[in-house]
Amino acid sequence: MSSVLLHLPIAASQSLHKCHEEEKSALLEIKRSLKEGPEYCYYKFFSPGDYKKLESWKPEEGQEGGNCCTWRGVQCDRHSGHVMRLNLGNACLYGSINSSSSLLRLVHLENLELTANKISFSPIPPEISNLSRLTVLDLSKNVLTGEIPSSLGNLTRLSYLDLSFNYLTGQIPSFLGNFYKLSQLYLDNNQFTGPIPSSFWNLTQLSRLYLSQNQLTGQIPSFFGTLTQLSELRLNDNRLTGQIPSLLGNLSQLSLLNLSHNQLTGQIPSSLGNLTRISTINLWHNQLTGEIPDSLITLRQLKSLYLCSNKLTGPIPSQLGSLIHLENLDLSWNGLHGPVPTSISHLSNLMYLDLCVNNLNGDLHLGMFSGLKRLKTLVLSFNDFSLLLEPNASESYPLLWALGLASCKLHEFPEFLRHQHDPLFLDLSYNNISGQIPVWFSSFVYMRSLNLSHNYLTGFPQHLVFLNWTQLGSLDLRSNQLQKPLPAVPLATIQFYFVSNNRLSGTISSMICNMSNVQVLDLAKNNFSGVIPQCLSNLSSPLMVFSLHNNNLHGGIPQLHKGTCSLRMIDFSNNRLGGPLPRSLENCVELEFLNVGNNMIQDIFPSWLGSLANLKVLILRSNRLHGPIMEPKSNLDFPNLQIVDLSCNTLVGFLPSNYFLYWKAMRFLNTSRPSYFGESWNVPLFSFVYYPGYYDYSMTIINKGMVMEYAKILEYLTFIDLSSNNFTGEIPNSIGSLKGLHLLNLSHNV
Ligand SMILES: *[C@@H]1O[C@H](CO)[C@@H](O)[C@H](O)[C@H]1NC(C)=O
Ligand SMILES: *[C@@H]1O[C@H](CO)[C@@H](O)[C@H](O)[C@H]1NC(C)=O
Ligand SMILES: *[C@@H]1O[C@H](CO)[C@@H](O)[C@H](O)[C@H]1NC(C)=O
Ligand SMILES: *[C@@H]1O[C@H](CO)[C@@H](O)[C@H](O)[C@H]1NC(C)=O
Ligand SMILES: *[C@@H]1O[C@H](CO)[C@@H](O)[C@H](O)[C@H]1NC(C)=O
Ligand SMILES: *[C@@H]1O[C@H](CO)[C@@H](O)[C@H](O)[C@H]1NC(C)=O
Ligand SMILES: *[C@@H]1O[C@H](CO)[C@@H](O)[C@H](O)[C@H]1NC(C)=O
Ligand SMILES: *[C@@H]1O[C@H](CO)[C@@H](O)[C@H](O)[C@H]1NC(C)=O
Ligand SMILES: *[C@@H]1O[C@H](CO)[C@@H](O)[C@H](O)[C@H]1NC(C)=O
Ligand SMILES: *[C@@H]1O[C@H](CO)[C@@H](O)[C@H](O)[C@H]1NC(C)=O
Ligand SMILES: *[C@@H]1O[C@H](CO)[C@@H](O)[C@H](O)[C@H]1NC(C)=O
Ligand SMILES: *[C@@H]1O[C@H](CO)[C@@H](O)[C@H](O)[C@H]1NC(C)=O
Repeated sequence: MSSVLLHLPIAASQSLHKCHEEEKSALLEIKRSLKEGPEYCYYKFFSPGDYKKLESWKPEEGQEGGNCCTWRGVQCDRHSGHVMRLNLGNACLYGSINSSSSLLRLVHLENLELTANKISFSPIPPEISNLSRLTVLDLSKNVLTGEIPSSLGNLTRLSYLDLSFNYLTGQIPSFLGNFYKLSQLYLDNNQFTGPIPSSFWNLTQLSRLYLSQNQLTGQIPSFFGTLTQLSELRLNDNRLTGQIPSLLGNLSQLSLLNLSHNQLTGQIPSSLGNLTRISTINLWHNQLTGEIPDSLITLRQLKSLYLCSNKLTGPIPSQLGSLIHLENLDLSWNGLHGPVPTSISHLSNLMYLDLCVNNLNGDLHLGMFSGLKRLKTLVLSFNDFSLLLEPNASESYPLLWALGLASCKLHEFPEFLRHQHDPLFLDLSYNNISGQIPVWFSSFVYMRSLNLSHNYLTGFPQHLVFLNWTQLGSLDLRSNQLQKPLPAVPLATIQFYFVSNNRLSGTISSMICNMSNVQVLDLAKNNFSGVIPQCLSNLSSPLMVFSLHNNNLHGGIPQLHKGTCSLRMIDFSNNRLGGPLPRSLENCVELEFLNVGNNMIQDIFPSWLGSLANLKVLILRSNRLHGPIMEPKSNLDFPNLQIVDLSCNTLVGFLPSNYFLYWKAMRFLNTSRPSYFGESWNVPLFSFVYYPGYYDYSMTIINKGMVMEYAKILEYLTFIDLSSNNFTGEIPNSIGSLKGLHLLNLSHNV
């Protein structure tokens, strides 16, 4: 009863003004031009979307059906009966809206919301200016491409404009500065280039400005400091340069400032200490210098302060503990020095604290964190302080999810760990911990990532210690003194398994073939003997990196089956492997790096690897390769090869001059973005939090008699070594075309 009564006034006003025929037919045309269905929902995982919105849009069926003002998503003006608001957000719609769309005939619209569909506007039709009464326009999360048309400049009544999460290009049009009523402007997550328009100084009503995730350049205009209504300013993930304008300190309403992932320089202005309402400051990944201003300690509303990955120096302000609402504090990857202020122990709301990779020094009583009951993440790795562990406090420590104490000069496992049950992530790498991994480690059953690399650990009280960690995804035990056997892990969950540089011996257990999700398998630099398990040819995991170098393995290399080879990196060098190279390597189309040097491979030059379009590094040094290298069959062979080492074999005949012509990657030297060969990945920690991992490819080459170890390989390094073979004849001219070549060694041939 009550609901009928509630609806009466609206129904009455709408029956007074039935919808206008021309608008009704325009709406029906819109319905016809768009497809609707669950397959077109924007959000697939969270909320499935409302894909029956247009069902009520029917031409005549009685009075209700005929009155478009009662249709879902449609609202008419009470007096004129004109369609004034159209809200088809998250309605799983697909189709195109262009110059011929009847939408552009709904000229009385004030409110148009089409967010989160798959509607393409390619480009936004210039006739959008027909909708000159719009005050709210939300086309976010669709398929908008091209530039914003200049005719949009006619929509001067807009107070809310959201074009975020699209594919818009070009510059941000300066006419937006004429929309003086604009209070919310969202242009984030597009591909806009160029500067922030200076006309924006007009936008005095602006309270939210999101320009993040574009490719904007130039400086942050200091007039932003005069837009005193601003409460959220997101400019993160652009290419902005210059300093943070100190005028921003005037924004007394500002609650969120995100300038992260830009190229900002200079100091953090102390005026930010005047942002009395600010709750989040994010300046991470810039090039900010100088000290953390003391003025920040007055920001009593501050909940999150992210200053990581800058070049900040000086101490952490000693009064930091007065930021009593602080929940997240990340000062990692800077050059901060001095002690960790004891006032941090007052931050009773703190959940996340990351101070890693700084030069912090002095004594650090770990007990100072014991009162922080909400603390879940504590990362202190790679500093210079002396960690003091108070055994008396160990039971009162907060139960952490993530703990990083890498390079903290530890000589033993901290006692308080014994009372931790929840850790998902534990990094104790680069310490001086010796002896066995304690039995109580087996209670860490939720562990997802354990890093004990670079210690002096010898093994496990029982080798099953990790077996009931049924969520373990990443185990790093590199560079210890582990002795056999190979640490057993839950075979179904392990993704990243590192035990290289230990003293493991015996044969490699065929259990590795049952690691059904393993992506990185690093058993290098041990004393394994015997053969490589043949079951690898049946491997069904998405293995990317497989490293067995510097062991004592013999026998043949197993065939890898078509469809199962996802390897990008194979390093079997420095063993005693014999037989031919398995022809099935041809199936590994992702392969970038193949090093089988220093073995006893009996084969001819593997020209068939030429079909691997991603292969960049091929090292077959010191094997038993024989016969001539034939000229390539196709000019597409080895298109990306840049490091080739065939030295110390018994190859004969003329140098293959055409290969030198086809190795295109060596002809140009792109040094613009120096990075290294390797793999990177994310270890999932909790719901949406990932921990990044990476693996650098490494190699050893011999240049002018010098053994050169490359722990990392610059992505633009190019190198050819054909020395110490029995090649004859002239050095081909074509080698001169390899302009990008760094090193060439043809010595010791005939
Ligand atoms: C314009 O949109 C209509 C209906 O949505 C579509 O049928 C037509 O192909 C589109 N025209 C262009 C040029 O994209
Ligand atoms: C713009 O609106 C007028 C009605 O005011 C209409 O006649 C015209 O067709 C519309 N233009 C487009 C491109 O739909
Ligand atoms: C929109 O603005 C342009 C100039 O930018 C003008 O030529 C055009 O007449 C305007 N259109 C409407 C519908 O107001
Ligand atoms: C900004 O704040 C400074 C003081 O920091 C003040 O002198 C100036 O008048 C303010 N400017 C505006 C536009 O409010
Ligand atoms: C700030 O930007 C970073 C990306 O650089 C993003 O991860 C973070 O969620 C943003 N935070 C807020 C509150 O906008
Ligand atoms: C903060 O604002 C006051 C005036 O409101 C001004 O005197 C002071 O200089 C400002 N502080 C900073 C650090 O800019
Ligand atoms: C632990 O003992 C140290 C001195 O050895 C003392 O300073 C500290 O307050 C004690 N902590 C607790 C929680 O009892
Ligand atoms: C760690 O152990 C190594 C080798 O035993 C030693 O050289 C180094 O000084 C030790 N470091 C610390 C901080 O104890
Ligand atoms: C895990 O295994 C160890 C020994 O293998 C055992 O002591 C411990 O109770 C087990 N934990 C759980 C939760 O099953
Ligand atoms: C591979 O699997 C097949 C069938 O599952 C089996 O017959 C064969 O022996 C396996 N090969 C190796 C080398 O384990
Ligand atoms: C283990 O920690 C070291 C030092 O923090 C890091 O370099 C390495 O990548 C980590 N291993 C994994 C698998 O994340
Ligand atoms: C390579 O040359 C050396 C001497 O120049 C000779 O002794 C050797 O037999 C040759 N090997 C082959 C495979 O031709």
